[in-house]
Amino acid sequence: RKSVTGHTLTALYNRHEKITMLTCYDASFASLMDQCGVEILLIGDSLGMVCQGKDSTLPVSIEEVAYHTECVARGNKTAMIVSDMPFGTYATPESAYDNAAELIKAGAHMVKIEGGRWLEETVRFLTERAIPVCGHLGLTPQSVHQFGGYRVQGKTSEAAKRIIEDAEILQNAGASLFVLEAIPSTLGKEVTEALSVPTIGIGAGPDCSGQVLVLHDMLNVYPGRKARFVRNFMEGQPSIEEAIKAYIRAVKDGSFPAPEHCF
Ligand code: KIV
Ligand code: NA
Repeated sequence: RKSVTGHTLTALYNRHEKITMLTCYDASFASLMDQCGVEILLIGDSLGMVCQGKDSTLPVSIEEVAYHTECVARGNKTAMIVSDMPFGTYATPESAYDNAAELIKAGAHMVKIEGGRWLEETVRFLTERAIPVCGHLGLTPQSVHQFGGYRVQGKTSEAAKRIIEDAEILQNAGASLFVLEAIPSTLGKEVTEALSVPTIGIGAGPDCSGQVLVLHDMLNVYPGRKARFVRNFMEGQPSIEEAIKAYIRAVKDGSFPAPEHCF
């Protein structure tokens, strides 16, 4: 296939074809996922939990995400690479730019940042300087201490309204993609309908423009607690390659997420 770019995502979005994203941290998995046809490889700060065994994403550094981004970029040929900006690396537009530039130099095509309207200026600052930005709304794990745990977000009508407004503000500031995590399916649908760029859901219902899962969750190798939105795609599959293909099929045909994965 040709390289997956922003234009590719727009084309998929316009023809209502679901977009597939998986987290990826090394060259071998990047090569496999790319060959299977996953559109977006996410170097998530989840690497702190699934690769490093830490109990949150908060200690992950920009150097660590850059290192894993380089590993993924070496194994990848055509997928789009999105890298997470870790906690504490985008508190101001200027520091965000310096840190995002490190990830772009490491091979990322886009960076992802967690949060709402407080990031308006930062999103504008990055996108005006040629760094594509993916927003991340809902359950943003870097805010775990402020949330008081990993809890479903946007459950009241006020909280839901705020998330929709945040998405619109960041889209207007230049964000070209959004991850929506652990929100009611009805809100996932509303945010997706309010925007003119794709949304990628993880526990955000079946009406998002695409879906993402953490690799170690969908292969059932993460030893920790499993979130409701996770499905074990290894089940019934003879190989990791077949599990990844089963994930792509299930996202594309709309059978994942099913009601039991949703809020
Ligand atoms: O870090 C990560 O893996 C993520 C996804 C869960 C969206 O941000
Ligand atoms: Na993340």
